[in-house]
Amino acid sequence: MSSNSHEPESFAFNAEMLEKAKGYIARYPAGRQQSAVMPLLDLAQRQEGWVSRAAMEVIAEMLDMAPIRVEEVATFYTMYNRKPVGKFHVQVCTNLPCMLRGSDDVVAAAKAALGVGFGEMTSDGLFTLSEVECLGACVNAPMMQINDDYYEDLDAGSTKTVLDALKRGETPKPGPQNGRQFSCAAGGPSTLTELTFQTEKA
Ligand code: FES
Repeated sequence: MSSNSHEPESFAFNAEMLEKAKGYIARYPAGRQQSAVMPLLDLAQRQEGWVSRAAMEVIAEMLDMAPIRVEEVATFYTMYNRKPVGKFHVQVCTNLPCMLRGSDDVVAAAKAALGVGFGEMTSDGLFTLSEVECLGACVNAPMMQINDDYYEDLDAGSTKTVLDALKRGETPKPGPQNGRQFSCAAGGPSTLTELTFQTEKA
């Protein structure tokens, strides 16, 4: 397996994660427990912030599969971090729809606010900045994912506002940052514009 300088010697799921892992494994028929590899990798990452080689070996053991098979999954999907990340993993989408809607400004604002480039962590360990492919929220482009939350309809100012709030220990509200309701048309609702609905026959 590949290694990096951060690799710990060992890994063990804590009691809570182990319980969840057993729950995932139990969802599959006997002999098919390998199907739980992705949720177990996710649990390891939620516990440690990333997926170490030691964690993959523990998962391989639990699922009775070769460690290389676990690593193949962990390295195929970019959602699994193969090295430690900051408390807040800021993933900025720069794919075409986001780029057309101004992701260059989001990237510049994020780099300026955090003082790091892509693939780097701030010295206080609070933020890691990553460039990612489409995150499936193009309708609210440009956007960035921070841990489990999507921040959408961004520009330079709102990107800085979100990141500054996190620095202060606040939890900025996820979703559109320009006042838009979910993925409503930018010009406002074009259907269902009246709030009264006829529920009975006249
Ligand atoms: S291109 Fe950015 S979310 Fe799809």
